[in-house]
Amino acid sequence: MECERGALRLSGELLRELGATTGVAFLSSPRVWKLWGSAIARGMGAGRGARTVLFADGEAAKTISTVEKICRRLAAIGLDRRGTIVAVGGGVVGDVAGFAAATYLRGVRLVQIPTTLVAQVDSAIGGKTGVNLPEGKNLVGAFYQPALVVVDPGLLRTLPARQFHSGIYEVVKYAVLADRHLFEFLENRMEELLRQESSALDWIVPRCIALKAQIVSRDERESGPREALNLGHTFGHALESLTRYRRFLHGEAVGWGLIAAARLAEAINWLTAVDAARIEALICSAGALRPIPRISPPKWIAAMRGDKKARGGRLRFILPRQIGEVRCAENVPERVLKSILSGLDRPRRAN
Ligand SMILES: NC(=O)c1ccc[n+]([C@@H]2O[C@H](COP(=O)([O-])OP(=O)(O)OC[C@H]3O[C@@H](n4cnc5c(N)ncnc54)[C@H](O)[C@@H]3O)[C@@H](O)[C@H]2O)c1
Ligand SMILES: [Zn+2]
Repeated sequence: MECERGALRLSGELLRELGATTGVAFLSSPRVWKLWGSAIARGMGAGRGARTVLFADGEAAKTISTVEKICRRLAAIGLDRRGTIVAVGGGVVGDVAGFAAATYLRGVRLVQIPTTLVAQVDSAIGGKTGVNLPEGKNLVGAFYQPALVVVDPGLLRTLPARQFHSGIYEVVKYAVLADRHLFEFLENRMEELLRQESSALDWIVPRCIALKAQIVSRDERESGPREALNLGHTFGHALESLTRYRRFLHGEAVGWGLIAAARLAEAINWLTAVDAARIEALICSAGALRPIPRISPPKWIAAMRGDKKARGGRLRFILPRQIGEVRCAENVPERVLKSILSGLDRPRRAN
């Protein structure tokens, strides 16, 4: 793992340190490759032997059929068992390319170069790869650790503002679930962060990576501690699927999910009203979230039961006990849940 501004320039050396390879294939999207391809290929010292395989990076392209096309291209260019796949892009590229790397020839070396905030602080870390089915998101995949991750916050410069903001809600998630100090930093420095000033951004990105790496290393196959990372996601995934993945970016749905989690934790007396209000205020300071369309509480609940992390249809919520600490709640009364859901779009009452 290498994380620093300018890390791209070191990537060639880091690649060589991994040992000999018979060929390098860059997997990216046309958009990302156009913006950053030449800088990355140069940084990697990729000579004539390097090949590029481009594919669309919309969520709709995150399918088995895209993986098949990629693998066929890899076969056509003759990437062999000792070849290296370098994934360059956001979470979609990382997940798809990661799954291709895990399965092509039963696994070839993978390097991740994440180019969105979500990918830098979240999806490129932890080894989860995969694609969607029409039946649901990320239903097919593999745990596959990259040999190297190169994180350069400078790559975020070209990211559309909405995408950047969406990543900030995930950063807030880390702060609420495990890092009070990060939470306070965000409270004090949100403006700088929104302007992508390196004094804020370059502090936050490695901090989130370290948090995720620490949680994942205790629980690679996702049975215990890793569940904490699901904070805000039970609500968030339901909101994404109820709005057919069109209205909200993932991080934005998580932003709403964090608000719901804070209110629910307050309602069951896990969290003080002061801390719940701070969480909500921090989310709002990262930018106003689009309103939630009218969704009846029973529909919400049915969608949450369908989440792949619900166990046997039982609802479990990761909820804050205080800022920086979460726990799993299993028996939230449905009445309380419904009242939170039906009022979620309304501003918090003043305390
Ligand atoms: N594997 C995991 O642990 C994990 C964790 C979180 C999210 N995910 C997955 O990640 C995906 C979301 O990833 P995302 O939020 O990075 O979105 P994304 O990959 O869809 O990228 C968002 C958009 O930004 C563009 N883009 C990327 N980098 C850019 C740059 N530097 N400059 C300009 N434009 C750029 C892309 O072309 C795309 O249009 C989802 O599919 C989600 O399931 C996976
Ligand atoms: Zn997420």
